[in-house]
Amino acid sequence: MIRATWRSLLFLVGVWAMSVAMPMGSLLWAEPSKGKPEAGKQIYMESCQHCHGPTGKADTELAASLTPRPADLTAKTTQSKKDGQLRKAIVEGVPGTAMSAFGEAFDDQQMADVIAYIRSLKP
Ligand code: HEC
Repeated sequence: MIRATWRSLLFLVGVWAMSVAMPMGSLLWAEPSKGKPEAGKQIYMESCQHCHGPTGKADTELAASLTPRPADLTAKTTQSKKDGQLRKAIVEGVPGTAMSAFGEAFDDQQMADVIAYIRSLKP
């Protein structure tokens, strides 16, 4: 009886620890986002396409004038990155490049939407 109680207590502590640890982990290793690519496309067309190109290939005149060139978002180098890494680049910018920090410009849903749109650019 007492043993069983301890076991269930341990189980509860385990469940609690996991529920605390998992959201923290997901900040670094974001799970596949549940963003809506169509919504993300609107944001992208407003804020990103002049550098990254309408199809993500960074084939605009502005892109050609920048050093380093904006990332080709369709390329494997970008697509193989985790959502959390893309999010970091968008929130914090990429130091030493024209990629500026968008900081709090997007809420979580908008961020998930933009990332979903980037994912949809995969060839
Ligand atoms: C002023 C031009 C400019 C704008 C606007 C811009 N970017 Fe960028 N972006 C860049 C440059 C330059 C890089 C860095 C390329 C490199 O790392 O060599 C970059 C890098 C990135 C990366 C990292 C790619 C990788 O593989 O590490 C992501 C993701 C990204 N941009 C997404 C976005 C999104 C989303 C928007 C719009 C909200 C946006 N960018 C707006 C120029 C821009």
